[in-house]
Amino acid sequence: MDFFEIVEKRYSHKERFLPDSVPLKDLELIAKAGLAAPTGNNSQCVRLIILPDRASLQPLCDVAPTEGLRTAPAAIAVLTDPSTQKGDHNFEVEDYSAATAQILLAVTELGYVSVWLDSPYFDDDKQKAAVKALGAPAGYHLRVVLPVGLSDDAGARRSKMTFNERVFYGKFGGHK
Ligand SMILES: Cc1cc2nc3c(=O)[nH]c(=O)nc-3n(C[C@H](O)[C@H](O)[C@H](O)COP(=O)(O)O)c2cc1C
Repeated sequence: MDFFEIVEKRYSHKERFLPDSVPLKDLELIAKAGLAAPTGNNSQCVRLIILPDRASLQPLCDVAPTEGLRTAPAAIAVLTDPSTQKGDHNFEVEDYSAATAQILLAVTELGYVSVWLDSPYFDDDKQKAAVKALGAPAGYHLRVVLPVGLSDDAGARRSKMTFNERVFYGKFGGHK
């Protein structure tokens, strides 16, 4: 698929997934796309955990059962390691966001759907429980969980502002 078609096709799939499993080689390709993202100061603080089947997803579901996670056949958990910070600025949020964006495009390229799930882990207790459920060291941050799978419907699309409402020329508010 053309890159710009993939960009247009990506959407947040907030409905159920089909039970069909996702081959590990696809999940690894998707993970590689995430690791190829730029990282602040090249700190490479992002860690990915491939959850290749329902059994490996269940501990996260037990912490915070969301519609996506309850039906997804696989997922990728995106964590950051705060100890990798180089220099004064902490780039964990920027780094995980850049990696996640690339992961979502790779998911789309391979014909799967996903959704950025972070709010289930905002609560401190849920965050700690989820990090523990994933077997990650204390202190790591679970930033987002990305269910990966197929869908048998087109999925609901959200309305978007127009190009001209958000893009300006020369100065804020400027037109062509
Ligand atoms: C930083 C961020 C956090 C998000 N967190 C959630 C979430 O916790 N649960 C969820 O269902 N969707 C979440 N989303 C998906 C957004 O709701 C979705 O991207 C937005 O409504 C636009 O829809 P689209 O992705 O289909 O273009 C998140 C997206 C971003 C970028």
